[in-house]
Amino acid sequence: MKISVIGTGYVGTVSAACFADLGHEVICVDIDKSKIDLINTGIPPIYEEGLAELLKKYAGKRLSATLDYDFAVKNTEISFICVGTPSDPGGNIDLGIVKAASANLGDSLGKKKDYHVVVVKSTVVPETTEKVVLPIIEGHSGKHIGKFGIAMNPEFLREGKAVHDFLHPDKIVVGSIDKRSGDMVASLYSGLECEVTRTNLRTAEMIKYVNNAFLATKISFSNEIGNICKKLGIDTYEVMKAVGRDFRIGPHFLNSGAGFGGSCFPKDVRALIGKARETGYEPQLLNSVLEVNEEQPYRMVSLLKDKLGSIKGKKIAVLGLAFKNDTDDIRESRSIPVIKELLDNEANVSAYDPMANGNMKKLFNIKYHDSAIDALRGADACLIMTEWDEFKSLDKEFDIMGRKLVIDGRHMLAPGKDVEYIGLCW
Ligand code: UGA
Repeated sequence: MKISVIGTGYVGTVSAACFADLGHEVICVDIDKSKIDLINTGIPPIYEEGLAELLKKYAGKRLSATLDYDFAVKNTEISFICVGTPSDPGGNIDLGIVKAASANLGDSLGKKKDYHVVVVKSTVVPETTEKVVLPIIEGHSGKHIGKFGIAMNPEFLREGKAVHDFLHPDKIVVGSIDKRSGDMVASLYSGLECEVTRTNLRTAEMIKYVNNAFLATKISFSNEIGNICKKLGIDTYEVMKAVGRDFRIGPHFLNSGAGFGGSCFPKDVRALIGKARETGYEPQLLNSVLEVNEEQPYRMVSLLKDKLGSIKGKKIAVLGLAFKNDTDDIRESRSIPVIKELLDNEANVSAYDPMANGNMKKLFNIKYHDSAIDALRGADACLIMTEWDEFKSLDKEFDIMGRKLVIDGRHMLAPGKDVEYIGLCW
């Protein structure tokens, strides 16, 4: 089939490349010419494992990119909206970019005679596709629904593993306004071995939020249990390993520590809370999920102060700045509140991350290093903030510290006995 993909962020570019891999012809659209040029030369505008190989294989063949909405809509049968949905200052979803993309699509659809389906892949709160996107497209195209189709097809792609997740899904959800639109979208995935869940638009939107909110809840629950275990001298990892063997619970996302970050969990839980409040319902459990998550990083600094007393003027090494391993993304990283708190206490912060130093430099004027050992030199303590593989084997490297005190926020290490090793929740 012929597909256009609006937005070349990580969801858009990965979806475009993977649709090409499934045999479809794909045109990417973005307002940023530099991204268009990169894609047309087969270079991904963002880093994702496996993406460079796919773009190299299909760019200039089944995959191209353009600034021109009219061209993309005219030459394809389906358009996916894959633009960002950030939080507004109040924590609610900001639909500005979705609205702009819908208006542009509507304008182009007005110039096209043939049937065309618009699919929202961006994460949007329930009712958005029906009550925001659809009226904008109708208004701008001058066409009523039926002359074109509309669907909602959420993504479940982990950053860093997005290509793998797209091509090996455990679920595909297609919400649609009518059977014709839904059939067209579902058929795009016929090359994948995965049952397609068919539903209506608002249910598809809700499934995406519930998926992320449930995973975030699992993490905050594990953190709360970890905080209690810590007080009782119990290893919460031993507890959760046993608990996770129950098939109804499962072993994943039970790792307690410094909490969740990234561009999805915090934003999506906030947006779901905002939507619930709009209906007059106060979601107490979701509020608590965020509260527990906000407090975890401060527990790192409290443990540090318990050991060192005042941290004023003390050198504290922060290892790990990205919100998780294998990415340079620092959005809502738990290391941000930690560094801020350290600086507020006038500590001297030396940091290292294998990929994210550059991004963190834009936020904090602290000392950045090119290796863990450089950051550790002479430090009074070390905080482990991100689950990078290379931190797992750290041991003799701590010899270079002034005081070998290590507080681990990710259950990463197993250092020798001469290191004063403290787990955040264990
Ligand atoms: C998340 C979801 O996992 C994807 O399914 C979803 O499609 C995506 O959001 C999205 O909405 O686009 P992602 O934000 O890339 O993906 O990150 P995860 O790998 O899920 O990790 C999120 C955070 O949770 C990280 O900060 C990680 O350190 C933390 N985490 C994860 C824990 O603290 N404990 C755990 O047990 C697992």
